[in-house]
Amino acid sequence: MRTLTLLPSLALLATGALAQSSTCPFNYPAELNSTQSHNGLVLTLASNNPVTNNRALQLRVNPFLEGGFFVGVDASSPVLLANFEDAAFKSEARNEFNQLYDLGPTGYLNLRDEINGTSRYTVGFANASTWPGEVEKEWYLAGGSEDGTYAVYHQEPLNTVHGFVLCQADHDLDPGPWYQLFYYTYAQTPADFPECEFVGVRTTVGATIYNGECSIGGFVA
Ligand SMILES: *[C@@H]1O[C@H](CO)[C@@H](O)[C@H](O)[C@H]1NC(C)=O
Ligand SMILES: *[C@@H]1O[C@H](CO)[C@@H](O)[C@H](O)[C@H]1NC(C)=O
Ligand SMILES: *[C@@H]1O[C@H](CO)[C@@H](O)[C@H](O)[C@H]1NC(C)=O
Repeated sequence: MRTLTLLPSLALLATGALAQSSTCPFNYPAELNSTQSHNGLVLTLASNNPVTNNRALQLRVNPFLEGGFFVGVDASSPVLLANFEDAAFKSEARNEFNQLYDLGPTGYLNLRDEINGTSRYTVGFANASTWPGEVEKEWYLAGGSEDGTYAVYHQEPLNTVHGFVLCQADHDLDPGPWYQLFYYTYAQTPADFPECEFVGVRTTVGATIYNGECSIGGFVA
């Protein structure tokens, strides 16, 4: 069972399809498999804040989890490249020939706090056998626009409102200030998150990325 229930403002953000400029020659598929889209997907933020709008999500080293990463936006962390397969996000790297390969860490949610019935989850990447024990396979893409941009969602029970919130990080500031991405769910009323903004997460899918012809971010091994 999945639901597309969203805050009205978030639905606007998620499907508002801010034009994505790309120097990479994408070929958009006519139909999207909502749980499957290979290639180096870059996830970007849809936000009302010009500082964070359109920024690509990055993997920020999680000092508490070996081989683990937080997801957020900062001045220097590598851009997250994702292989989306079987409803799971797998982080990717590039070799010296710009060929993509799965790096190992996969996307997961981890409960951070519960405030007035709103659950807030850290969005992270890690070797699933370390955390959370198995690969989380509950992600999907929906609501595509003409340029091949789709919103990223996580499956929830019916009548559960869900979305993403981006917060000024209050921990692990040594490498510099950063914004941390969280996911939230609630049934009734959203909690008020100070120092945070509701955001959409989206990605532009393509049938083909011609590696080597353009820079698409990520780790270079
Ligand atoms: C999407 O891909 C998965 C994995 O290959 C497959 O099992 C499923 O049938 C596909 N769904 C559609 C609608 O093509
Ligand atoms: C995850 O860690 C385990 C234990 O160290 C290792 O055997 C496995 O190959 C790793 N998986 C990936 C995808 O890197
Ligand atoms: C939680 O609910 C109480 C009572 O409605 C309210 O006073 C308080 O501000 C709420 N806290 C947050 C963080 O939303």
